[in-house]
Amino acid sequence: MLPAYLPNPVAALCGGGTPIDNGKNYSDGKRIFGDGKTWRGLIAGIIAGIAIGVVQIWAAGTYGLDILPQQTVVSVTLLAVGALLGDLVKSFFKRRFGKERGSKWPVADQYDLVAGAFVLLVIFNPVWIFTEVTLAAFICILILTPLLHRATNIIGYMFKVKEVPW
Ligand code: CTP
Ligand code: MG
Repeated sequence: MLPAYLPNPVAALCGGGTPIDNGKNYSDGKRIFGDGKTWRGLIAGIIAGIAIGVVQIWAAGTYGLDILPQQTVVSVTLLAVGALLGDLVKSFFKRRFGKERGSKWPVADQYDLVAGAFVLLVIFNPVWIFTEVTLAAFICILILTPLLHRATNIIGYMFKVKEVPW
């Protein structure tokens, strides 16, 4: 899951500049995505996710980590792109529900990246996901994700990278 987990913190570190929605509003008069979704964050996050995935592929080839799912360039790309697309779709609906940028939206804030990554994998690489990601691995992901999410956001808040600890 590293290629899906890394893009969010990297986006928080590198984000800023032009928002993806260009500051535009949706038909309901509220922002499409908001100022928290920028091109710089999106692109830096995706590059970081793919880069860590390529390191995983190299490490698996060198050290024979057969117990872990065997990543491919396609799987790491879908994990990284899916994670931030999920985050973007989440923000779209967050704005539609009138929630301000940076406000809390339990469950959606934690699982957006998992949903985005898995939806892309099921659509574009179903053979990989159904052979490599076991039910046990999936349950681990569901348990670990909110814990990691909370921990990284507290760290990000302590280092003033994030404005709120969630
Ligand atoms: N970020 C970014 N571009 C992205 C995703 C994130 O620049 N595509 C940066 C923004 O600076 C954002 C921070 O990472 O504030 C934290 O991301 P997140 O918590 O997802 O955004 P929020 O500011 O909480 O906005 P939202 O309410 O839309 O989730
Ligand atoms: Mg947030």
